[in-house]
Amino acid sequence: MHTKLYSDAKIVESWGINALPWTTAVREGQIESRKQITDQAIIETILNRLPRSVLDIGCGEGWLVRELATRNIDVTGTDVVQKLIKEARRAGGGDFRLLSYEEVAAGKLKVSVDAVACNFALLGKESVEGIFEAVPSLLNPHGTFVVQTLHPVMTCGDLPYRDGWREGSWAGFSSEFSHPAPWFFRTLESWIKLFVDNGFKLCEVREPIHPKTLKPASIIFIGETAD
Ligand SMILES: C[S@@+](CC[C@H](N)C(=O)[O-])C[C@H]1O[C@@H](n2cnc3c(N)ncnc32)[C@H](O)[C@@H]1O
Repeated sequence: MHTKLYSDAKIVESWGINALPWTTAVREGQIESRKQITDQAIIETILNRLPRSVLDIGCGEGWLVRELATRNIDVTGTDVVQKLIKEARRAGGGDFRLLSYEEVAAGKLKVSVDAVACNFALLGKESVEGIFEAVPSLLNPHGTFVVQTLHPVMTCGDLPYRDGWREGSWAGFSSEFSHPAPWFFRTLESWIKLFVDNGFKLCEVREPIHPKTLKPASIIFIGETAD
């Protein structure tokens, strides 16, 4: 049976298919915006909060976990794709768990950390709403939730500026990639509402600027729990 064209399940299916080319692209620094701007931007944002423990949800092949682990931080990574978790474990650096967002939302992950990070990993609809509901219970008092994602204004294109599913694309990636994942576009207002409705205080928003285009390469939201 085929999964719906636009759904959270379709996103997972696509990452399963593209796990190996993705691992190569990340590890060989093939994604220019990551190498130049967004990798450093999320590392700096997290380090700024001085966490002793971090949970990286949707960790992929685990690069961020490894980076943070070299800074003496206790890091756990979760992802739903078996091949990505296998690659992450092989490279080491942290504790990697095979868990979907739905499982995390259902309380299957028992951790209490200073910060939760999601780096370009919140791409769906219901699965993302479930993560936002679950994160407060995974954080220590005054914990931080850091989300780096596509900048809504930069990625809206010619379509109306309103929430909705969008077709995926691997433009700019190697021919090894196929079956692009759909993604759920959220306006800036909707992202902020996700934080506020789930009890976070949004303490900062960062817009890392691409040095050549002088446009935002991403957006980073930094939320904090009250207690
Ligand atoms: C663009 S990749 C980012 C990976 C990693 N955070 C990084 O910075 O390289 C998106 C990740 O989200 C994961 N993902 C998407 N939907 C998921 C779900 N429902 N449950 C768990 N992981 C999911 C994918 O498997 C993939 O590893």
